[in-house]
Order: sequence, then C-alpha cells, then structure tokens
Amino acid sequence: MKIGILSSGGDCPGINATIRGVGKTALIHYGMKVIGIHNGFSGILSKDPSDINDFDEKSLSGILNLGGTILGTSRDKDFRRLIKRQSEEHTSAILKRYRELELDCIVCIGGNGTQKTAHLLASVGVNVIGVPKTIDNDVWGTDITFGFDTAVNIATEAIDRLHSTASAHRRVMVVEVMGHHAGWIALHAGMAAGADVILLPELGFDIDQVAERLAERQRKGKPYSIVVVAEGLSTPGNGKASDYIANTIREMTSMEVRETVLGYIQRGGNPSPFDRNLATRLGGYATEMIACGAFGRMVCVNGNRIGSIPLSETSGKLKLVEPDNELIVQGKRMDIFFGV
Ligand code: F6P
Repeated sequence: MKIGILSSGGDCPGINATIRGVGKTALIHYGMKVIGIHNGFSGILSKDPSDINDFDEKSLSGILNLGGTILGTSRDKDFRRLIKRQSEEHTSAILKRYRELELDCIVCIGGNGTQKTAHLLASVGVNVIGVPKTIDNDVWGTDITFGFDTAVNIATEAIDRLHSTASAHRRVMVVEVMGHHAGWIALHAGMAAGADVILLPELGFDIDQVAERLAERQRKGKPYSIVVVAEGLSTPGNGKASDYIANTIREMTSMEVRETVLGYIQRGGNPSPFDRNLATRLGGYATEMIACGAFGRMVCVNGNRIGSIPLSETSGKLKLVEPDNELIVQGKRMDIFFGV
C-alpha cells in the first residue's frame, strides 16, 4: 500500500511527531510506501514536483521534537469551497492526481477545517484518515488534541512570569490567550497559573461584575490581579478582547492595568513530551486503520484509549468548554471569578 500524508490549518507542536508516527509505522511495521504532500490539501494539485516527497526512515528521523510541520501547511479554504460546490473540474483533478500518485489513502493532519475537507474528499471517492490536531483542543469527538498540552505549558509559564511584575507594580495584568472560539487554553492555563479572573467565550462576562470583583480584591488588600481572557470572548467593537477588558477596567476603576497578548508563541517551539507521545500513538493507530481498510474516519482519544469515529460525526462541529466543567466548578469554590 502507499500512503500520502498532509498537514493543513494552523500549525502546532506535534505535527512532525505524527508524520513520524505514521511514516515509521507504515515503512517498518507494514512495509508500505509513504509520501509527503506539501502545503496542505492544495499540495495534491500542485504542479511543483517539490511539493511531493518520498519518505524513508532517514527522512523521518530527527523530526519528533520539532515544532511546526516539515510538510508546510495552509488554510485551504478555496480547496474546500471548490469541493463543496461540487466543481466537476476540481473533483476530477483531485481523483486524477490521487490515481497518478498511486495512493491508497491520504492521512489528513489538522483541526476542524481539515477534518471537514477530509470528509468532503472521502465523499468524492478518496480514501482518507483524519488525525485531529490543534492547540485549541476544540475538535469534536476526541477528548484532547495534540498541540493543546504544549500551548497550555507555554501560556502557563508566561502567566507565571506576569505575577512578579503585577505584584511589583500592584497592577491588574490582562493576558489574552489563543483558542479560537473555545476557552480551553484560557481555562487550563488560567487555573494552572493561579489567575484570579478567567473569561471564556462559552460563559461570556458582565464587565460591572468583573470590575467590582477586582475592586473588592484591592479593598481586601490583594495587591494585584491576573485576568486571563480567551481571544474568542465576544466583546463590543472589533478590537482584541483583552484591549476591551483592560480599557474598560481602567475606565471603571482607579487601578493601573496592563495587557499582554501571547499570540503565536503558543504555537511555537518543540512539542511537550505528552504531545510527542500522543501524536505518535495517533499516527500509529491511523496507519493500523489503513492496513485494515478502515477509511473515512478520524482517530481520536477516548479516555486513555485511542479509537476512531466516522468523519461525518465530527465534521462541522466544535467541542466547547461545558459550563459545569470540573475546573470551573473547582475554581469557583476557590473564589476564582469566571465573568458571571
Ligand atoms: O487554530 C489555531 C489558532 O492558533 C487559533 O487559536 C487562532 O485563533 C488561529 O489559529 C489563528 O489563525 P492564523 O494562524 O491563520 O492567523
């Protein structure tokens, strides 16, 4: 059998560990051939011969600990739109190229958009296996995605550092973290770094209550506060959520406020050991499914087991933080404020 691997959507630490997991399992354990498809789904139709590479054990070595993706990635919205519109020309070009490359399956490493595109590819007759990845941890159908643990480690370490400067100046530090429409990074990093206020898209916020809570902390002699804001928090205007929160607190109270947007460092650098091993397990299981001919599915984490679900089940859905998440319940018991 011959497998193609591609990565699509936002990059995250662990993609290369997945490529290595799929590739080495296929080459060594199953005797399959493996190629890399560069720059996301658009690489399938690329005319540039360098956008396709053969993998061997040597080319799969030394990548386990690397951030980013050796295959490159892209958002692939046009590619997906053309399939959705059932563009005959686009679909036949994909199938023609798939046969030219003599592929038996394409492993699609990516987040929600990627799994949606993989599902569309399956619908036009391409054998696909989805491997969920994103720092956002918002892929429906899997307990966790690789990239998330690394991002939480990075964000937690950054927020830890802000405590000392906030304390020195007796300030309110507002920190914005990534997560797209979900609040998973804000919740986990906020709780791990001892934030006093954590604002999640799923819960929303009452700015009067936020300001009152911070003023109350000051009245109780708490010299500084850490406010963690998920980037997807809905706020008036078109600016960054952290800007709105910081500016409004400044206007409503006499407190000194500063803000920090962690941005893309949450997606940078080497994957955590947890993410390396999760990516390796998911990659190996994806290859096992290919060997068994189980296509059109996404590998997933279910408790401490690796399994799979049909791509039709995850496509178009988001996994958001539930209001009664145990970290929220426990945080409230310790007077951490979640905005409402
Ligand atoms: O999906 C991962 C992510 O980092 C989100 O947290 C963030 O909102 C988005 O990607 C940024 O997208 P881009 O990399 O296209 O700017």
